[in-house]
Amino acid sequence: MGQAPVVSLTWDRRVPARCATVKSFTGLQRSKQPMPDRYAVIGHPIAHSKSPLIHGLFAQATGQDMTYDMIDGGAEPGGFDRALASFRTAGGRGLNVTLPFKLQALAAATQASDDARLAGAANALRFDGDRIEAQNFDGIGLVRDIEHNLGLPLTGKRVLLLGAGGATRGALLPLARAGVARLVLANRTAAKATGLAREAAPHLGGCVVEGGGLADLTASDTFDLVINATSSSLSGEAPAVPASAFASAALAYDMVYGKGLTPFLKAAQAARCTRVADGVGMLVEQAAEAFAWWRGVRPDTRDVLARLTVPLV
Ligand code: ATR
Repeated sequence: MGQAPVVSLTWDRRVPARCATVKSFTGLQRSKQPMPDRYAVIGHPIAHSKSPLIHGLFAQATGQDMTYDMIDGGAEPGGFDRALASFRTAGGRGLNVTLPFKLQALAAATQASDDARLAGAANALRFDGDRIEAQNFDGIGLVRDIEHNLGLPLTGKRVLLLGAGGATRGALLPLARAGVARLVLANRTAAKATGLAREAAPHLGGCVVEGGGLADLTASDTFDLVINATSSSLSGEAPAVPASAFASAALAYDMVYGKGLTPFLKAAQAARCTRVADGVGMLVEQAAEAFAWWRGVRPDTRDVLARLTVPLV
């Protein structure tokens, strides 16, 4: 089998004069100018990914000399591991990882963060010699979007988190770290949510976590925030949440992005939820976390977020 196809995207890499990386590119060193550091996103399919655009804008704004490619890991077994090996051999410094390779990315790691381990998945890798470090920034991006971009502090809040799959797993530790007081996991298949709550509870400090079925939610279960971490919006459906769950919610948040007003967000509006948001901010903020982890500089996300935001209508 040949190498995984790499789609290379480049952007204007002129580095602002204030940038430290300029210094090593001047004078006598010009003929030995080092290659820019290489990063990429890997997935299958991958053509839809916004990551090259986002990281390109971050690199431009922060004056980082780097390239960012798209790698299609293919559908064949072993495709991810082969692509990973050839990217590292070629000097790659880090990868963003998207579906369906997030579990394999964690398995390939020599070191993994607590977030990645509880999520059972990694969405960012960093390479340093023989080390492969794994992180999962999805939940951190979610929290950052809710608190910083949407202005809802999470300390002491009651949160309903819908779903019990990978997206839910990734959100648990960051929500608990943000000081959420009570976390209710409600899933179509109740047993998955009860099992996940039991598994997660010892890791969530003072955050009380409970799990159950969507059908178990009663009118007395009210929340400050309702997050849809199911994949229902991708098939144009909404989880069957009682309207009462939104009654005192300041925000209904759907982790998907670019789908406009999803059935979940429409249900929240119909239940008079104060505010609705999709996951575009989570996407941009998790990217910013990965960028900071790789490059040591956290980009300002406002311009990128404004550029990617699609009105919720
Ligand atoms: P992801 O990694 O995106 O979380 P996943 O691990 O396949 O994907 O999990 C999908 C989640 O969405 C599950 O919690 C699933 O519920 P089940 O465990 O009952 O399958 C949930 N889900 C998908 N479609 C749904 C729908 N139409 N209504 C409610 N929940 C749905």
